[in-house]
Amino acid sequence: MQIQSSEIRQKFLEFFKTKQHAIIPSASVVPENDPTVLFNTAGMQPLVPYLLWETHPLGKRLANYQKCIRTGDIDDVWDNTHLTFFEMLWNWSLWDYFKAESISWSYEFLTSKNWLAIDPRKIAVTVFEWDEDAPRDEESANLWKKEWITNISYLPKEDNWWGPAGLTGPCGPDTEIFYWVWSSEFPPEWSTVWNDSKNWMEIWNNVFMQYVKTSEWTFEKAAQQNVDTGMGLERITRTLTWTPSVYESDVFADIIQEIEKTLWVIYNDETRKSIRIIADHSRTATMMLSDWIRPSNVDQWYILRRLIRRSVREWYKLGTSWSFMTPIVEKVIEKFENIYEPVKNNKFEIIQALEKEEKQFSSTLENWLKEFDKLLNGFKIAFERTGKAVDTISGDKAFRLYDTYGFPIEMTQELAKEKWLNVDVDWFNEAFKKHQELSRAWAEQKFKWGLADDSEIVTALHSATHLMLAWLRKYLWTHIHQAGSNITAERLRFDFTNEWKVDGEILKKVEDYVNEAISKDIIVDLKNMPKEEAKAAWVEWSFWEKYPEVVKVYTFADKDWNIYSRELCWGPHIERTWTMWKFKIQKEEASSSGVRRIKAILEK
Ligand code: ALA
Repeated sequence: MQIQSSEIRQKFLEFFKTKQHAIIPSASVVPENDPTVLFNTAGMQPLVPYLLWETHPLGKRLANYQKCIRTGDIDDVWDNTHLTFFEMLWNWSLWDYFKAESISWSYEFLTSKNWLAIDPRKIAVTVFEWDEDAPRDEESANLWKKEWITNISYLPKEDNWWGPAGLTGPCGPDTEIFYWVWSSEFPPEWSTVWNDSKNWMEIWNNVFMQYVKTSEWTFEKAAQQNVDTGMGLERITRTLTWTPSVYESDVFADIIQEIEKTLWVIYNDETRKSIRIIADHSRTATMMLSDWIRPSNVDQWYILRRLIRRSVREWYKLGTSWSFMTPIVEKVIEKFENIYEPVKNNKFEIIQALEKEEKQFSSTLENWLKEFDKLLNGFKIAFERTGKAVDTISGDKAFRLYDTYGFPIEMTQELAKEKWLNVDVDWFNEAFKKHQELSRAWAEQKFKWGLADDSEIVTALHSATHLMLAWLRKYLWTHIHQAGSNITAERLRFDFTNEWKVDGEILKKVEDYVNEAISKDIIVDLKNMPKEEAKAAWVEWSFWEKYPEVVKVYTFADKDWNIYSRELCWGPHIERTWTMWKFKIQKEEASSSGVRRIKAILEK
């Protein structure tokens, strides 16, 4: 049998263990303390602080797989190479080994019979060419030659330089490893990545972080040299299994079969695009939901909503409106539950949230399609009257669809494209901007100080849940644990284990406690601690098994060190409590058997 993705993932970890790397857990898809990006788009992102100054508790050699989301190419998803969710296998040196070990280990892992056993004659590499900021990376080229890899292309910064998504940060030249995908024959001698790039597939990127970008134009030599490598699991699987695209590899094959079975369709030229979109988006939506993103109208939450809505739309196109995507998501869960703890722990919530959004959107979509048909009908009548065909939906009309019926512009564009119509997006954007300015002015009125934007409000609400849970445990009962938490920019929703209704008098005490902590202007303290030590110190936790051996403990204590809350968590948390406004509980109700639910807000 051909190699499967799970085996590649496993081998990668085993290999780097033999090179003394510690294996660390995958972080959530949402970056913890980086407001510049909505998602982790590369394996290295959750670890940026360790590239610059912090010491990692698990040492200087790390490896793992990381959930990544890139939604920039969302419209290309159905082609052979773009995915919105992917897993990156990565290894890291934090001021430890550098180019020599990195290159020789990559070569060993890819080509050794004990590992992936790729024929080295099918490998080509690229290295950094040169520019005024940094010299040509001859060192890497020579190291490749030492491994007898001589198919080397020198490429400029656009290709062989890597840094994080933000404007500044650690960066450096990289060397990329490519595999010959044109045919099962060996590549002709003249073919290199430089002159024949479409026949080579990039499978692994080794970044040598020697620089720090300090502004748009300046690169400074880094105090700390690091290695950051990343290999896309789906790509390497596709490459090693020789499937036409990743969708035919084991990464997707059974998800696609499930779609065929559920919808009674066959995966062929006609249905390929819709099926691929549903398969990709269901995977991404499941992973987002498992990390507690919920569909809503801003940031990450909006992207999730868009993915689910797009899948529903494709589902409709395949000719049915009577069944839901639950079996597809169940399949995705089955594939990931033994790999990512949050998928296993939140199975039920994932399905519940998806079904809710799907149901809501299905009825909206039907109304939208009717409205859109009316618009098309208007065009038809105009054509019959004037003899002039309309080929563009004006910005005005697009904005009215948005403002009156909630049609997002992307949906208008998609529907328009299917009918060979354009949309005047510039005009739409104008109108949209004006509309936004108005609502921003209104929001600023409302939130004069303190929390600046939605992500800060979410962080503050998260901190409020810690304080609330601390009171419940301290004064009510220590059997109380967190059973679930869902936070949007509007409110927190917190589930906890308790059999009986918590009455109003008690809730008032909870509010007072949280507000007291806020008024004391607590500076929130974060410490790394071995898990066992934290356990012994009675630090509150939700799921021990979710955490690595060294954990983050957040303490809310006033300046006399009266502890208001101490809990193990991934973060992020507010830095100082005074920015949190006033805490108010809106509702306490049963959530499920033995679980109560509190909904609360922060108000000015
Ligand atoms: N961080 C590097 C990448 O994403 C390895 O390509």
